[in-house]
Amino acid sequence: MERSPEDFLKPKTCCICSYSTKLALFFIVTFVGFFTLFDIQALRILPISSPLSSSTSWSTLQHLKTFFTKTYHFNCSRELEAMASKLQHSVTFLPLKDLRFAHTAMDGNTWFMSSICDDAGEEGETEHLYFPSEASKGRLLCVAGNDSHYGEKNLYGFAWKDSLPANSTLMEGLTFVSDTYYDYTNLWHGLTAMAPFVSWYKRNGCESPSRWVLYHWGELRTGMGSWHENLMKATFGELKVEGFGKSNGSSCFEKAVVMRHNIGKMGKERRLEVFDMLRCKARAFCNVSFESSNAENNKKEDTAVRLTLLMRKGARSFKNESLVVKIFSNECARVKGCKLTVTQSENLSFCDQVRAMSFTDIVASPHGAQLTNMLFMDRNSSVMEFFPNGWWEYAGIGKYAHHWMADYSGMKHLGAWWDPQVEKECPHPEKESECFGIYKNGQVGHNETFFTEWARNAINQVKVMKQDEFSTQQPKSSCVCARVVE
Ligand SMILES: *[C@@H]1O[C@H](CO)[C@@H](O)[C@H](O)[C@H]1NC(C)=O
Ligand SMILES: *[C@@H]1O[C@H](CO)[C@@H](O)[C@H](O)[C@H]1NC(C)=O
Ligand SMILES: *[C@@H]1O[C@H](CO)[C@@H](O)[C@H](O)[C@H]1NC(C)=O
Ligand SMILES: *[C@@H]1O[C@H](CO)[C@@H](O)[C@H](O)[C@H]1NC(C)=O
Ligand SMILES: *[C@@H]1O[C@H](CO)[C@@H](O)[C@H](O)[C@H]1NC(C)=O
Ligand SMILES: *[C@@H]1O[C@H](CO)[C@@H](O)[C@H](O)[C@H]1NC(C)=O
Ligand SMILES: *[C@@H]1O[C@H](CO)[C@@H](O)[C@H](O)[C@H]1NC(C)=O
Ligand SMILES: *[C@@H]1O[C@H](CO)[C@@H](O)[C@H](O)[C@H]1NC(C)=O
Ligand SMILES: *[C@@H]1O[C@H](CO)[C@@H](O)[C@H](O)[C@H]1NC(C)=O
Repeated sequence: MERSPEDFLKPKTCCICSYSTKLALFFIVTFVGFFTLFDIQALRILPISSPLSSSTSWSTLQHLKTFFTKTYHFNCSRELEAMASKLQHSVTFLPLKDLRFAHTAMDGNTWFMSSICDDAGEEGETEHLYFPSEASKGRLLCVAGNDSHYGEKNLYGFAWKDSLPANSTLMEGLTFVSDTYYDYTNLWHGLTAMAPFVSWYKRNGCESPSRWVLYHWGELRTGMGSWHENLMKATFGELKVEGFGKSNGSSCFEKAVVMRHNIGKMGKERRLEVFDMLRCKARAFCNVSFESSNAENNKKEDTAVRLTLLMRKGARSFKNESLVVKIFSNECARVKGCKLTVTQSENLSFCDQVRAMSFTDIVASPHGAQLTNMLFMDRNSSVMEFFPNGWWEYAGIGKYAHHWMADYSGMKHLGAWWDPQVEKECPHPEKESECFGIYKNGQVGHNETFFTEWARNAINQVKVMKQDEFSTQQPKSSCVCARVVE
C-alpha cells in the first residue's frame, strides 16, 4: 500500500555520531610524541597549517617524514606504515539496515545508516548526506556487501582516502546512493526516490553521477524501471546502476550523495523546479518539437483544447470503454478547436508517453501508475481521475498519490470520480487491508450524466484559460543544466 512522503517528516531520534573520537585521540597522542622527541623548535618551521585536521593527516605525516628525514637523518617510514595500517584496520563497519528500528522505520526513524545524521540542508531541500565532508571528518563512504534479501548483511563504514580498508576498491567520481522504503520500478515510487537527486544536481554545479547505488531497506537493487532509466538518462546522461560484481571487499566512493527520505521534506518550490527540469529534459531527449509550419498554425495549436483519454487494460480499466470514449468525444465535438486522443497506456515507449503528454491539456484516466506521466504536460494542465468501487473506503492515503503528483508537478487535479456501484461486499469490513485486496484491481464503471457534465466543464475551463494565457505565453527556453550534445 502506498504511504505519503509526508510520513517521513516526523522528527527523528538521532544520533550516534561519535566514533571518530578514538582516532582523533590517536593522532593527538602520536603528534605529542613526535614533538617531545624532536625539539619543540620544529613547530616553527614545520610546513603544516592544522596538524590535527584529519583530512590532511596523511599529507601532514608525509611532510613530517620528509622533514625528519632531511633534518635529523631519521627514517620513520616503518612507523608511518604501521600507523597507516592501524588506520586501515580502524574502519568500523555497521549494518546498512539497523534492525533496532525495524518496527519504526515508517515513524520517522531511518534504519538506513542509522548512526549518521542528515545535513540540515538549505531550507526546502530534502535532507541528505554528503561524503567526504566536515561531518565525516573528510572520510569517504565505503559499503560492503551485495545482499539483495537481507539489508542487515550489507555494511557501511567511513575511511580516509589514503588508508582505505584492505581489499577495497576506490570508485572515482560522484556516486548517488539511494535508499527507499518502496521500490524503483513503480512509476510513482521510483520517481519520488529520484527527485531529490535532481534537485541536488541542479544546486551543485550540474555534476552528473558516475553511478547509482540503489537500496530498498538496505537490500541492494541492481536496476530501476525502464521508464525511470530513460528519465534519468534524459536528465543526467549515461546511467550506470552499480551491482558490485564479484568484488568481495568494500567499495569506497570518492564523492557520494546519500538520499533516504524520498521527496519527503522538499518544499513546494523545489519540487516544482525538479519537475520543470525533468519535463524539459525528457522533451529534449525525445526530440519533442513545438514548431509548427507557420505562425497561424501555431496560434491555432496553442488555443486548441487537447484532451487525452489514457486507457488501461485489465485491472482498473473502464468496464465500458467505448461508452466513455463516446461521452468525451461528444463533449469535445461541442467545442471549437477541441481534439480528443484515446491512448492505450500499455506498450507505449517512454518517448511515446512523453510526446503524448507534451501535447495534452487535459488527461482523463483511471487511477494507476500511467498517470505519473502527467508531469510531461505543460504546467497548469488538468487531470481527471477515475476509481473503481471500494477505493474511497479502503485504499488509505494511497488513493491521493496523483493528487500529490499534480501538486508536485504544478498541474490542476480536477478531482476524482469514485464508482459507487458495489459488486462484491467485503466479508469483514473492519479489516481494511483485506478488503482493499478485494477491490484493488476492480474495473471502473460510469455515470453518463456525471461524466458528461464533468467533461464539459473541464473543456470549457481550459478553453477560457488558454485564450487568456495565449497573449502572455513565454517562449520555450532551454533546460536548466542543459548538457552539450555533439
Ligand atoms: C626508509 O626505510 C625504508 C625501509 O624501512 C626504505 O625502503 C626507504 O628507502 C628508507 N628511506 C630513506 C629516505 O632512507
Ligand atoms: C584480502 O584478500 C586476500 C586475498 O587476496 C585475503 O587473504 C584477505 O583475507 C583479504 N583481507 C580482508 C581484510 O578481507
Ligand atoms: C556478491 O558478492 C559475492 C562475493 O562476496 C559474489 O560471490 C557474488 O557473486 C556476488 N553476487 C552478485 C549478484 O554479484
Ligand atoms: C577477494 O578480492 C581480492 C581482490 O579483489 C582477490 O584478489 C581475491 O582473490 C578475492 N578472494 C576471494 C575469496 O574471492
Ligand atoms: C533525437 O534526435 C537525435 C539527433 O537527431 C537522435 O540521435 C536521437 O536518436 C533522437 N531521439 C529520439 C528518441 O528520437
Ligand atoms: C457499452 O455501452 C453501450 C451503450 O450504453 C452498450 O450499447 C454496450 O453494449 C455496452 N458495452 C458493454 C461491453 O457493456
Ligand atoms: C503489448 O505487447 C505485448 C507483446 O509485445 C502484447 O502481448 C500485448 O497484447 C500488448 N498489449 C497491448 C495492450 O497492446
Ligand atoms: C498557472 O496558472 C496560474 C493561475 O491559475 C498562473 O498564475 C500561473 O502563471 C500559471 N503558470 C504557468 C506556468 O502557466
Ligand atoms: C450520476 O450522476 C448524477 C449527477 O452527478 C447524480 O445526480 C446521480 O445520482 C448519479 N447516478 C448514480 C447512479 O450514481
